[in-house]
Amino acid sequence: MSDVVSWAKEGEIGVITVNSPPVNALSAGVRQGIFDGTKALDADESVKAIVLICDGRTFIAGADITEFGKPPKGPGLRLVQETMEDASKPIVAAIHGTALGGGLETALACHYRVAIPSAKVGLPEVKLGLLPGAGGTQRLPRLIGPERALQVIIDGNPIPAPDAKDLDIIDAVVEGDLREGTIAFAQKLVDENAPLRKVSAIDVDASSLPENFFADFRKSIARKTRGFPAPEKIIQCIEAAVEKPFDEGMEIEGAGIAELMAGTESQALRYMFFSEREVAKIPDVPKDTPQREIKTAAVLGAGTMGGGITMNFANAGIPVTVVEMTQEALDRGLGIIEKNYRNTQAKGRLTAEDVDTRMGLITGSLSYDDIADADIVVEAIFENMAIKKEVFEKLDGIMKPGAILASNTSYLDLDEIAAVTNRPEDVIGLHFFSPANVMRLLEIVRGAKTSKEVLATCMSMAKTIGKIGVVAGVCHGFIGNRMLSRYSTEANKMLLEGAMPWQIDDVLYNFGMPMGPFAMGDLAGLDVGTRAREEFPDLFPIDPDFPVFADMLAKMGLHGQKTKAGYYKYGEDRSKSPNPDVEALIIAESEKRGIERREISDEEIIERCIYAAINEGARELEEGIALRPCDIDIIWINGYGFPSYRGGPMFYADLVGLDKVHAAVERYRQRYGDRNWKYSALLEKLAKAGKKFSDWQEFV
Ligand code: 3HC
Ligand code: NAI
Repeated sequence: MSDVVSWAKEGEIGVITVNSPPVNALSAGVRQGIFDGTKALDADESVKAIVLICDGRTFIAGADITEFGKPPKGPGLRLVQETMEDASKPIVAAIHGTALGGGLETALACHYRVAIPSAKVGLPEVKLGLLPGAGGTQRLPRLIGPERALQVIIDGNPIPAPDAKDLDIIDAVVEGDLREGTIAFAQKLVDENAPLRKVSAIDVDASSLPENFFADFRKSIARKTRGFPAPEKIIQCIEAAVEKPFDEGMEIEGAGIAELMAGTESQALRYMFFSEREVAKIPDVPKDTPQREIKTAAVLGAGTMGGGITMNFANAGIPVTVVEMTQEALDRGLGIIEKNYRNTQAKGRLTAEDVDTRMGLITGSLSYDDIADADIVVEAIFENMAIKKEVFEKLDGIMKPGAILASNTSYLDLDEIAAVTNRPEDVIGLHFFSPANVMRLLEIVRGAKTSKEVLATCMSMAKTIGKIGVVAGVCHGFIGNRMLSRYSTEANKMLLEGAMPWQIDDVLYNFGMPMGPFAMGDLAGLDVGTRAREEFPDLFPIDPDFPVFADMLAKMGLHGQKTKAGYYKYGEDRSKSPNPDVEALIIAESEKRGIERREISDEEIIERCIYAAINEGARELEEGIALRPCDIDIIWINGYGFPSYRGGPMFYADLVGLDKVHAAVERYRQRYGDRNWKYSALLEKLAKAGKKFSDWQEFV
C-alpha cells in the first residue's frame, strides 16, 4: 500500500485503486503501487481476478510528463506492464474519465478493459512529439489491426468509449457504477473460466492490409506532418509490429521514444502542453475570484469579425443578439453565418438540426435597446476611435449594470475607449482572430481599470466558447500584432534590398509558418491593408524610406487571390506562380532609390523576420504587456501559425541561444537604426548572463 495506490479484496475479486490527483499520472509512486498491488493480489490464492480502477476525475491520464528528462525512479512502466500481463489471473481495467497515453497502455497490458459511456481512450503522445512508448505501438495493432491502430496513434485524438468498443479497444461499456460493473464483469470471467487474454501474444493480422499501405500512408500525411519527426517513427513502429516479434517491436519502440524525447520538437510540444495551462493563471487574479454569469451575449457589427464572434456564442449554446446599422448589412451578416453553418453541415460535421438550433440562438436587430439586458456585449465595428468612443458612450447609457463591455479592437487604446464610460472597470478587450469562428486564440486585453472579476469572467468564457484566452496589456497592436509588424516590416525591407517575395515566403514556409507574409497578403486581399492605411494613417504610419509594395499592387488592381493576381499569379486550378510584373516593380523601385540589390541569404531572412519579432516580444515582457514568455508563444502558435514544434518565438530563441539572437539583433540595429530594432535591455541582460527567456523573471 502507498499514499497513491491501495488494494483490497471484494469476494474473489482483488481491487487495485489508484488515487493520485489531479489526473492519476503514472508517477514513480503510482508505478510502484500498481506493481506491488499486482504482485500481492496475484500471490493471494483467494483472489481469482483483479480490477484496476482509479479514484478522482479520471483513469490514468498518461505518463507523468513532469518526470520526462529526469533520471528514472522506481520500476519502469514496462516492467509494471509485464508483471500485469504475466499475472496468473485476469486483470480488468475499469476506465472513467480519460485513459490516455501510458494510461491506455497500462489498460492494454490488462487482460480486459471496461469503461463507462462517458469515458475516452487514446494515445495522444504524437501531440507531445512522442510515440506511445509503453507498448502502445505493439499492443494496439495486435488488438485492433495495424491499419486502425496506425490511424488512432497518428491522430492522437481521444476516442469515446462506445466507439472504442466498436474498434475493439475495450471489451465492454458498462452503465451505472463503474466499480460494481467491473467487479461483476471480472466475476463473470472467473465463473466462465475465461482465458487470460495477453495482448502481446496475439498475432498481428496483416492479411487485409492494402498493398503499399505504409508508403501510401506516408504520402497522405506528408504535408500535415512536415517538421514533426514523431509520425514517421510511429509508422516505423507499426511496420515493426507487422513484421517482427513483439519483443523486437518493443525494442524499436523504445529506441524511437528515446530519440524523440531528446529532440527539440518534443521539448517544444511538452512546453506547449504546460504553457497552455499556465496562460490560464493570472498572478494577481486568484482562482477563487468571483465571476459574473454569461447567459446571454450581444455583438455589435455583423461584418467579418462580428459574424464569427456571434457563431462562437451560438456554438456554445449562448443566445446572442447581433446589432447592425442597416437591414441590408444585418441580412448580409446573418446570411454569411448561415452559409458557414450549412457548409459545415455539408461536410458532415453538423446535422441540419444542429444548424437550426444554432441559428435559433441568434437574433438580429437594428436597435441597441434590444441588447440592454445582455451579460456581455462585444463591439466589432469599424476600427475608428471616434466611432468606438461614441458607441461605448451609448452602451454605457443602455447596458444593464454589471454587463461586460468588450471591444474587438486590434490596435486602438482600450483605456481611451473605457474612459468615455462611467464603468471602465467593466470594459475589456476581446481580440478575436480571423476567421473568429475558427481561430482558437483570444487575446484578452486588460485595461488599466478592468476589474479582476471581469478579467476572470472573460478567461472562463474563453474556455466556454472553445478559445484559449491569453492576457495582454494595452499598447499598439497588443502582444501579437505588435510583434507581427516588426516581422512584416523586415520582410518588406528585404524586397528593396534584394529578395523576392517568393524567396522570403519559401524560407518562412520551410521554417514552418503556414505561409509567408506575401502569400498571406494575397490571401487576405492586398486592398484590405491599403484601405486601412489610407483610412487610419495614425494607426499605420508609413515609413517614407520604404515603399509599401502591397499598396502599389492594390492600386494596380492586383488584390491577390481574389483578382487572380497579387504578388503571385493564380491559375484556375489554384496553382500559383511568381508574378513577373511584381519582380519588375521591385527591381525598378530599388533602382529608383539607388539601392544596389544584393543576394539575401535564407539565414538572414529568418533572422530579420523572426528575431525582429522576438526582440519586440522581449520588450513586451519588460513593459509588462505580456505576463510571461509562454503567453507570447501561445499567441504566436494559435494566432499566427508559428510552428508548434518550435515552441513559439520565445522558446525558439532559447533553443537558438540568446547570445546568438542578441548579437544578430545588435548587428541589424547598427545597420538599420532602431526604428524596427528597438533596444531591449532584457534581451541584452539575459544574453550577457548566458540565460534564457525562461529565466526572465530574475532580470526585470
Ligand atoms: N503528467 C503530468 N501532469 C499532468 C498530466 C500528465 N500526463 N496530465 C495533466 N497534468 C496536469 C496538468 O498540467 C494540470 O496541472 P495544473 O493544474 O498544475 O495546471 C493538471 O494535471 C490538470 O490538467 P488539465 O488542466 O489538463 O485538466 P483537464 O481535466 O482539463 O484535462 C486531461 C485532463 C484530459 C487528462 C488532460 O490533462 C490531458 O490531456 N493530459 C495529458 C494526457 C497525455 O498527453 N498523456 C500522454 C502522456 S505521454 C505518455 O503517456 C508516454 C507513454 O507512452 C510512455
Ligand atoms: P467589417 O467592416 O467587416 O465589419 C464592421 C461592421 O460593423 C459592418 O458590417 C458595419 O456595418 C458595422 N457597424 C459599423 N458601425 C456600427 C454601429 N455603430 N453599430 C452596429 N454595427 C456597426 O470590419 P471587421 O473586419 O469585422 O472589423 C471589426 C473590428 O474587428 C475592428 O475593430 C477590427 O480592427 C477588428 N478586428 C478585425 C480583424 C480582421 O481580420 N478583420 C481581426 C481582429 C480584429
